[in-house]
Amino acid sequence: MGAGRGGQHGTGAAQGGQTVGARGPQKDEGSVPGADTLEDAIAKVRERLARAGHVAVLTGAGMSAESGVPTFRGEDGLWRNHRAEDLATPEAFARDPKLVWEWYDWRRGLIAGCVPNPGHKALAGLEEREPGLTLVTQNVDGLHALAGSRDPVEMHGNIWKVRCTGCQRVSEDRRVPIPILPHCGVCGGVLRPHIVWFGEALDPGILERAFGAFEYADVALIVGTSGVVQPAASLAGIARRAGAFVVEVNPDAAGDAAAVDVALAGKAGEVLPRLVPD
Ligand code: OAD
Repeated sequence: MGAGRGGQHGTGAAQGGQTVGARGPQKDEGSVPGADTLEDAIAKVRERLARAGHVAVLTGAGMSAESGVPTFRGEDGLWRNHRAEDLATPEAFARDPKLVWEWYDWRRGLIAGCVPNPGHKALAGLEEREPGLTLVTQNVDGLHALAGSRDPVEMHGNIWKVRCTGCQRVSEDRRVPIPILPHCGVCGGVLRPHIVWFGEALDPGILERAFGAFEYADVALIVGTSGVVQPAASLAGIARRAGAFVVEVNPDAAGDAAAVDVALAGKAGEVLPRLVPD
């Protein structure tokens, strides 16, 4: 991840914007006079989506929370109980590959029992109707593809892929549990998770697709991310500055008018299905 990764960079959710609760319809209790009801805001977003040539979606851990995949920074978030430096850095893997693999093996076992939620399915449905949609995810769980999204841009890799530390070959590996340490079938080198760890660079091709999608988006949806990890955290701002209509979906969204046009304060699995026409 590049130099900025881990920097405190927000996608929004402060004061002043238009926030609409997901339990509506009710009048917004946020600070914008005359803010829409949830129904109105959803209708507005649907209308924007219908007119959009290009739609860019960024998802984070909150997207999979309703599927049972833990987030990183929430109440029971993974980084509340584990130190990222011990488990998700190249230095940690060099120091203790067994410990790192044990943690990933635990996460793989957990994710193996999870299925896509209505929010994942709604985004796959939206893609059917919007051929110009690019789905960018920070999630490594593979649930977007399971829900039917065709080619999600996985910024941080995929937990079901491994990479050889010797020959660099990337392959799919769905073994649960995985033998620790796993070895490459081609060269015998030690395998590592195909995940972008703190301090590592993102794949340039992946970055180009992600940034390109947000630069050219007419509508950008930012779903279930705390917006603190770069470079993903800058995508909403890039879209906004280029003139996109930016929508945030997050139960903690508070609507920062400088960062988003509409903040829908609700769960991805409840709000996203309402954005997609029947
Ligand atoms: P975080 O755990 O930082 O943030 C999760 C966000 O999801 C929070 O803003 C929650 O309010 C929101 N949320 C919780 N439940 C939700 C729901 N049902 N619907 C919608 N939103 C909900 O996760 P990320 O922002 O994805 O990197 O974290 C970014 C990166 O940090 C991860 O990709 C990971 C981590 O270090 C790697 O592991 C490479």
